[in-house]
Amino acid sequence: MSSSTKSLLTAALLLPFSHLAGAQTLVVDNETVAADNSTVAPAASEVDPNASTNSSASLFSDETVQLTDDVLANLTSLELSNVTLFSFQNDTEEDILEKRFFFGGCKTYPGDWLWPSTIIWRIFDILLGGSLIKTVPYAAPCYSEFGGIDSAECDYITANWSNDSYIHIEDPTSVNSVLFQGLTCMPPTINVGETTCEVGGYPEYAVAVTNVAQVQLAVNLARNLNLRLVVKNTGHDFGAKSTGKGSLSIWTHNLKKIKFYNNYHQDGYSGPAFKLGAGVQAFEVYEAAHQNGVTLVGGEGATVGVMGGYIAGGGHSPLSSLYGMAADQVISLEVVTAQGRFVTASANSNPELFWALRGGGGSTYGVVTSAVVKAKPAMKVTLMTWELATSDTVDADTFWAAMKAFFERFPTYTAAGQYEYFRIQNLGGDQYYSDMGPWFAPDYTEAELRALVAPLMADFDALGVDVNPVYTEYTDFYDAWQAGFPLEPWGSNAIRQASRLFPKGNWEDETKLNNTFDALRSVVEDGAYVIAFNIGGDGSQEDYPDNAINPAWRDTYMHCILASFWDPTADESVIKSASDMLTFDWMQRLRDVSPGAGAYMSESDYIEPNWQQAFFGSKYDRLYELKQELDPLGVFYAQNGVGSEDWTMSEYILGNLPSQNSKLCRA
Ligand SMILES: Cc1cc2nc3c(=O)[nH]c(=O)nc-3n(C[C@H](O)[C@H](O)[C@H](O)COP(=O)(O)OP(=O)(O)OC[C@H]3O[C@@H](n4cnc5c(N)ncnc54)[C@H](O)[C@@H]3O)c2cc1C
Ligand SMILES: *[C@@H]1O[C@H](CO)[C@@H](O)[C@H](O)[C@H]1NC(C)=O
Ligand SMILES: *[C@@H]1O[C@H](CO)[C@@H](O)[C@H](O)[C@H]1NC(C)=O
Ligand SMILES: *[C@@H]1O[C@H](CO)[C@@H](O)[C@H](O)[C@H]1NC(C)=O
Ligand SMILES: *[C@@H]1O[C@H](CO)[C@@H](O)[C@H](O)[C@H]1NC(C)=O
Ligand SMILES: *[C@@H]1O[C@H](CO)[C@@H](O)[C@H](O)[C@H]1NC(C)=O
Ligand SMILES: *[C@@H]1O[C@H](CO)[C@@H](O)[C@H](O)[C@H]1NC(C)=O
Ligand SMILES: *[C@@H]1O[C@H](CO)[C@@H](O)[C@H](O)[C@H]1NC(C)=O
Ligand SMILES: *[C@@H]1O[C@H](CO)[C@@H](O)[C@H](O)[C@H]1NC(C)=O
Ligand SMILES: *[C@@H]1O[C@H](CO)[C@@H](O)[C@H](O)[C@H]1NC(C)=O
Ligand SMILES: *[C@@H]1O[C@H](CO)[C@@H](O)[C@H](O)[C@H]1NC(C)=O
Repeated sequence: MSSSTKSLLTAALLLPFSHLAGAQTLVVDNETVAADNSTVAPAASEVDPNASTNSSASLFSDETVQLTDDVLANLTSLELSNVTLFSFQNDTEEDILEKRFFFGGCKTYPGDWLWPSTIIWRIFDILLGGSLIKTVPYAAPCYSEFGGIDSAECDYITANWSNDSYIHIEDPTSVNSVLFQGLTCMPPTINVGETTCEVGGYPEYAVAVTNVAQVQLAVNLARNLNLRLVVKNTGHDFGAKSTGKGSLSIWTHNLKKIKFYNNYHQDGYSGPAFKLGAGVQAFEVYEAAHQNGVTLVGGEGATVGVMGGYIAGGGHSPLSSLYGMAADQVISLEVVTAQGRFVTASANSNPELFWALRGGGGSTYGVVTSAVVKAKPAMKVTLMTWELATSDTVDADTFWAAMKAFFERFPTYTAAGQYEYFRIQNLGGDQYYSDMGPWFAPDYTEAELRALVAPLMADFDALGVDVNPVYTEYTDFYDAWQAGFPLEPWGSNAIRQASRLFPKGNWEDETKLNNTFDALRSVVEDGAYVIAFNIGGDGSQEDYPDNAINPAWRDTYMHCILASFWDPTADESVIKSASDMLTFDWMQRLRDVSPGAGAYMSESDYIEPNWQQAFFGSKYDRLYELKQELDPLGVFYAQNGVGSEDWTMSEYILGNLPSQNSKLCRA
């Protein structure tokens, strides 16, 4: 047994040591000191903001508080053996094999001998400066398990559960994809029949990080004890990547710093840029961009975290048809690695990590604490909305003919930098409805947009279809974005989604386009709800850099999401058939007309078949190799993330959906 494994074992066996139980003290340089965040915790040194980064941007103040070898050596409490539990990874290949053997098949769970005792959680909390939070599920006030029922609070949570994502984002562990979490604590009037509230598939503990040292302490503790580690920023993830039973979670929401550089220079880029903390959300970056007279490539959803999962997954934007993906705008990132080290990832500093972090997925290669991204010039935007529906004068065939007139023109519109966000639904009885909202025309005046769509409107007229287009020109992106994208729903227990990126080749000839269109029509006829985007991922105005973004994004005119809904009170067999229909029937029809194409991981099917190809295409082999190299112990795990095929969840929902409310074990 190597010395590192031995000392880990010793540390685990020696603890708990009761004399520390009540005392807020630790031994530092043989002296017992009061352990609060001004003495020991965060156990970290303040670093010169310029000296320790390879980025042209200086560190944020919350990034200058770092855990270093010197800091650890300083914490010489005898029993903690230089706080072995918090030490960095410094393993030979042999050590890694030995540790993997020692840890066994599964992550460490409550009840396992390696699971930290109360006293270790307490020491951890002291080192963190008191930012460790034991999970109380967000809907707990509706139940008796956690300190009793609070009806007023429960009413508030229930009333706002699905229409106010802000409230969930302020909670350390609440997530959007509750179905995969295991539905272990939802308001009882939403998840009808629920009678108990359990932590279940939520993390056991979350660290509300406000500095880099806390991220490092959490990564080190999780790695050294083989704990399941989760990163939650906002919790928007469709695939429940920001939750997990028995885990320790790093909650990045409070890393909110924003700094604007009028003229930033790094690795060949010169121009305006922002350095943004990992917790900054869309509504905040757009406001900052507006205030500084520039525009930023971000998503549509107001509360999505821009520097977390969004950018890690590639990030599509109302500006993507013009400028490409959000991850294409990244110049450098500050990251805590699986080894616990704090590094810069950029073209010239840890370039492999830099490549992987731009598209390779969240919670896979490290914890990002900030990113420097390019800013774009301020611009006017014209928005347009329409409603297309069957009626007394518009039958189903006419409705679909009008939809097709729109579809045929996708190549023209993406070439013109447009982004159109629309939905199609079956109202029953051969009635259909599609709302355009919004058509987002960057840098277009109203007159220019009217001219662009005139041929389409003429086709609509010829078909006898009136879509009542409403045009509004805005002088700035910020106003257009605010007007165009209302807050979207959150936390449904009665939906599954899946998606496809349709290749440009499908528009190449009439047969292919007909097949594509007929497949889409057929799934809507059978009940699928379509949420689609005419969008380009390659950017008509700029070359895109080499990074890990799914190559399918560079060859598409349409990102198409399908949703299957059900009545949550229906029999399980009914729900299962609605769920299975999505993946194995509707989506298969879309895959059949787009062989070899891909899907956008961040808005994807939880059980996408052959997801490695679909989400990463030709980039997968390199991403997998980098995962082995950068995270050999599997510290980071995310459902459908790179390398996740080496792990399995022990239980399934509806027979085939891995439950985050179960153990994560090696496959
Ligand atoms: C309402 C809504 C609107 C959306 N709109 C868009 C859109 O316009 N364009 C688009 O491309 N996508 C969009 N998405 C999808 C979105 O990109 C993903 O849900 C994304 O995962 C959200 O990232 P987050 O950090 O906010 O969420 P989280 O769920 O907190 O995190 C997502 C993943 O990233 C990881 N992660 C988060 N922060 C970090 C970090 N600092 N370091 C390492 N890993 C991290 C998490 O562990 C998790 O695996 C939307 C989603 C929703 C629900
Ligand atoms: C701490 O105490 C031990 C013995 O108790 C001693 O060997 C060591 O030198 C001391 N370290 C410091 C930094 O004073
Ligand atoms: C220490 O903790 C207190 C209370 O939690 C907080 O107000 C203060 O800002 C923290 N100080 C530092 C340096 O983190
Ligand atoms: C860091 O560098 C910037 C620009 O080079 C400089 O303005 C700033 O004063 C430096 N900060 C410190 C603490 O040295
Ligand atoms: C080690 O601890 C002492 C206080 O006992 C402190 O003065 C010193 O700065 C610490 N060193 C580091 C690297 O944290
Ligand atoms: C603690 O670390 C110091 C410096 O690395 C080392 O000299 C010392 O032996 C360590 N103490 C223990 C108890 O491991
Ligand atoms: C890592 O381990 C090697 C030997 O295994 C040792 O030489 C080196 O000093 C260690 N580095 C750190 C930072 O602890
Ligand atoms: C939350 O629900 C209450 C009603 O219970 C409502 O008054 C309030 O506006 C909702 N939203 C917010 C953000 O408070
Ligand atoms: C959410 O819906 C409730 C009614 O269920 C309403 O009172 C509240 O104002 C809504 N909140 C928002 C932010 O729209
Ligand atoms: C800075 O870049 C050098 C050279 O690429 C690298 O060795 C070093 O680790 C980097 N430092 C950080 C903090 O990323
Ligand atoms: C494509 O579909 C249209 C009807 O929507 C039809 O008129 C046309 O002949 C089809 N073209 C081919 C090549 O199948």
